[in-house]
Amino acid sequence: MRILFVNGPNLNLLGEREPSIYGGTTLQQINDRVRDKARETGVEVVFYQSNHEGEIVERIQKARGQFDALVINPAAFTHTSVAIRDALIAANIPTIEVHLSNPAKRESFRQESLISDVVIGTVSGFGETSYYLGFEAAKEFGKRKE
Ligand code: DQA
Repeated sequence: MRILFVNGPNLNLLGEREPSIYGGTTLQQINDRVRDKARETGVEVVFYQSNHEGEIVERIQKARGQFDALVINPAAFTHTSVAIRDALIAANIPTIEVHLSNPAKRESFRQESLISDVVIGTVSGFGETSYYLGFEAAKEFGKRKE
């Protein structure tokens, strides 16, 4: 089973960026922990981060037919990107949306997700644990379980 993790803008700054909201763990550390969990279960994981909407769209397009599940934190693009939404629909890969914070408890502009209704489900509000729960969900709901 192959799972692609996609991270949107500013998530490369995790650990330094608003740690009271997003925690003190870096994206590299989160990815390393996911990779350890994946190794234990024989799952292949690939990690991608970009600050650019078009690059994220292209990565999702390339993932078509190559991955059994996708875990995505679109970050700020969650609330704005019709292009990422459309790419996810076109890719037709079972997808889990994750957020470190719980956008429903934050500013009103974060309360709309253009992504939530085109994914299997969303995990938010658990800090880095959202990624680990997202990984578990991806294994469970991905195309190939072996
Ligand atoms: C986020 C929430 C978004 O509203 C914000 O723009 C982010 C991170 C989260 O993981 O909590 O960059 O996706």
